[in-house]
Order: sequence, then structure tokens, then C-alpha cells
Amino acid sequence: KARRERRDRLHALLDRAAGYYARYLWESAEAAAARDYLARRGLEVETLRTYRVGYAPSAWDKMLLGSRQAGFSEEELLATGLAQRSRQRPGSYYDRFRERIMFPLANARGKVVGFGARAMRDNQPPKYLNTSEGEVFHKGSQLFGIDIARRPAARAGTIVLAEGYTDVLALHQAGVQNAVGVMGTSLTDEQARELERTARTLVLALDADGAGQEAMVRASRIAAGRRLELRVARLADGMDPADLIQQQGAGAVRELVARSVPFVSFHVDKILGSADLGDAEGKDRAIAELGPVLAATPPSVLREELVGRIADRLGLGRPLAAQLLERAAAEAP
Ligand code: UTP
Ligand code: MN
Ligand code: MN
Ligand code: MN
Ligand code: MN
Repeated sequence: KARRERRDRLHALLDRAAGYYARYLWESAEAAAARDYLARRGLEVETLRTYRVGYAPSAWDKMLLGSRQAGFSEEELLATGLAQRSRQRPGSYYDRFRERIMFPLANARGKVVGFGARAMRDNQPPKYLNTSEGEVFHKGSQLFGIDIARRPAARAGTIVLAEGYTDVLALHQAGVQNAVGVMGTSLTDEQARELERTARTLVLALDADGAGQEAMVRASRIAAGRRLELRVARLADGMDPADLIQQQGAGAVRELVARSVPFVSFHVDKILGSADLGDAEGKDRAIAELGPVLAATPPSVLREELVGRIADRLGLGRPLAAQLLERAAAEAP
């Protein structure tokens, strides 16, 4: 019982903080630049309100003082990661989040457990400062937006996984309400379990950069053995869903998800795209990589199409390509 009371108090403190930051974003003169910034990125007020996006003031102690006045202790402020100890002045504390756009992180039941906080300028690293691991916040099991996406995802039987906070907002704003964020690039086992509990089909919509594409392949290994049908939403080079809504609008974001492809198609294209097909040895290396990928796909029209695509790209006859791919699969470690 004491533990439940403790948790309730910490959640109440975090909830109060989310409310405070949100009010600060909409009402303070100091946050005018943040409001402009978010508007320039194409994020609408209604979307920002849905996710309770806020702004942390530049002062060192506004959260500290306000929370104390509301009856919370310094120890509770430390436990929630809202404040941290001063190194210069032992025994004193200051606000962890200052001059940042605040994204509350909620668990599946909608309780706030932490924050992701974006710097306004590139010269204030890190770009995103998150609540550190602690009594209530565990990054490895957290999915940004799960509280909002859970029902729509269960209803649709599909859940969309993006990398960033702004990507989830962009997807939601475009009508893709079954979207959650992995908050970085590596899907964990715990996150995969939560996704599997929510929907049968998982659409990966990670950034179309090197890190994001690698993360999709790693995510497929994490998801392997789970009852998740994996698909990939394909973005143009260098883009993420938030860039897409800003540059091409909500329609383009909806299309992105509607036109997702089976994971194996993405994987084959990725290997072909990065292979050196200029000589025989490069082609052999590509086949060595492609063989096991195809072998893991059940016999299907899709698999036959992929074999055809590989044969075309390598300039081989189809029977020979099929034979070499099978051999490569058998010889794979
Ligand atoms: P990205 O680098 O792709 O950022 O990191 P982003 O989401 O596109 O950010 P915007 O659009 O410029 O605002 C993807 C996610 O990785 C986590 C965040 O959750 C971010 O949304 N991340 C990134 C961090 O936690 N810390 C960082 O310094 C950077
Ligand atoms: Mn990224
Ligand atoms: Mn990036
Ligand atoms: Mn990104
Ligand atoms: Mn982005």
C-alpha cells in the first residue's frame, strides 16, 4: 500500500509538471519562439494539445519552486527526474529541463512517466534530453504515444512504429492515429512484446537514413519469433515522417503508410541497393547475403517476384539465380 501511494504521488508530480509545461508553452511570452518553431514545422495546435506538448522556462528553479509549493518534496523531484543535485552547491537542486520543448512520455494507461525535451537550437546539445532511467521511467519498455495509439491500433490490427516524437505527432495529425515512437533507433524486446500485445501487423516507419535503415533490420530480428507481420513504410532518402508532413503535407504521410511493403521486399532492395554489382565477386557477395533472407520467406508469389527482381539486377537467368540463392542459404552459417 505504501508503495502504491508513493507511485501515485510521483505520477501526480509528473502530471502536474506536464500541465505546467503545457500552460507555459501556450501562455508565456518566453515561449513565443517555441510556438513559432512548432508552427513552422507544420504541427497544429490541436495535435500539440493532444500530446500535451509544453515548454520548459529558462529559469533554474521554476519547476522546483512550483512543485514545492504544491506540496512535493525535493526527494520526489529527484526521483521523477524533474530536478537534479547541484555539483557546485551541495544540498541544493535545480530544474533538469530548461529552454526546451517538452514531450510528456506516458505509459499505456496514460500516466506520465517522464519527458523527452528538445533543444530549440542546434548549439544546445543534446538535441533531445530525456528523463534518465529511474524509479518510474524505463526507456527500454517505453513507447511514445502508446496511450493514444493503443485503441486505434487494436481496432485496425496494425501499429505504426516511428523513430521520433515529432514523427508520431506528424502521423497522428495526418490521420494515422495508430502510431508510436521508439525514441531512438533500437527496438527492445520489451517494446516488441508490447507491440505484439496491441496488434498483429507492425509497420516500420523509421528514418530513411543509414541509422534508421539498419534499425529496421535489427527490429526484424527482435520481432522474429513473435506473432508480428512486419511491413516497411518507404520514405525518400534522408527523410522522416515529420519532414514529410512539413514538405509535402498530410496526404503524403497517409500514402506513406498505405503503401507500405512486406519487410522482405524492403530487405532485398536494401541489400541490392548497397551491393557492388559491378563485377562477379560483388554479385556473389550479394547472393550470399540474399540467400538466407529469401530462405526465411515461405514459398509464395512474393518470393518468386523477389527472385525475379534479383535475377534481373544481377543479369542472370532466373533458374541460375534461384539455384545460387538456394545454395547460399544452405551454406549460410
Ligand atoms: P532523430 O535524430 O531522428 O530526431 O532521433 P528527430 O526525431 O527527427 O527530431 P526532430 O524532428 O529534429 O525534432 C529520433 C529520436 O531519437 C531520440 C528521440 O526520441 C528522437 O525523437 N533521440 C535523438 C534522443 O533521445 N536524444 C538525442 O539526442 C537524439
Ligand atoms: Mn533518426
Ligand atoms: Mn536524423
Ligand atoms: Mn528523425
Ligand atoms: Mn525529424
